Amino acid sequence: MSDDSRPSPSGARTAVVIPAAGRGVRLGPGAPKALRALNGTPMLIHAVRAMAASRAVSLVVVVAPPDGAAEVKALLDTHALPGDNPSGSWGKTDFLVVPGGDSRQESVKYGLDALPPGIDIVLVHDAARPLVPVDTVDAVIEAVRDGAPAVVPALPLADTVKEVEPSAVPGAPETVVATPARARLRAVQTPQGFDRDTLVRAHETVTDDVTDDAGMVEQLGLQVVVVPGHEEAFKVTRPLDLVLAEAVLARRRLNDGF
Ligand code: C5P
Repeated sequence: MSDDSRPSPSGARTAVVIPAAGRGVRLGPGAPKALRALNGTPMLIHAVRAMAASRAVSLVVVVAPPDGAAEVKALLDTHALPGDNPSGSWGKTDFLVVPGGDSRQESVKYGLDALPPGIDIVLVHDAARPLVPVDTVDAVIEAVRDGAPAVVPALPLADTVKEVEPSAVPGAPETVVATPARARLRAVQTPQGFDRDTLVRAHETVTDDVTDDAGMVEQLGLQVVVVPGHEEAFKVTRPLDLVLAEAVLARRRLNDGF
């Protein structure tokens, strides 16, 4: 992407909301998932750095566990963050911490409520995807700037997916209901990007349980577009994902010549 397509210094109007208020029970017992360390640094800090690495991002709002906002503020204060965007010519990235809610949706809503005027593009990024490359972040922002009300990064699936009749008993056999054509399916990642007004309206209007923000925009009947995701934008959900994330970081350090 050329520098010309990025917002001007005076018009850097993209903010990121990072919902980080989940307990992450699937990772096993311990600290809230976002605060688990990857190579000694909390996953949340990796995620914040990944967002602030984009020169287009002027504000990062972290949504902390309801009882953990002070702890998260202290974490941001004690870790080096790219406060100045890498080029040094696009202004600073600001950071805000707000307490989260009972659901991911509620946490994102609290993050949106904290946005100042003048922001017109909002990304929502899971703290649980700490390693997303900056090119993916920029591709999402660019697609919103090009006029899409909602943009998701996504990858084709390696596995065939079956729809089942879920069993009430965990581990019991389940009946297959359908097999969607794999070529038409995509595994969706974050950051998801939105025209701010569209996302605010979606959060005001849609009350159904959804697993991503773009799903709410779909329910408004608006177009959601897909841009290529990245294999390193995977979600750290299970213990094996922690191993993979540390391997990715080790490979990056090697490639960076450390
Ligand atoms: O549970 P799941 O992995 O889908 O959570 C996705 C993201 O939403 C995580 O970053 C998690 O911290 C966040 N979340 C939140 N508030 C909640 C539940 C989840 O911010 N109440």
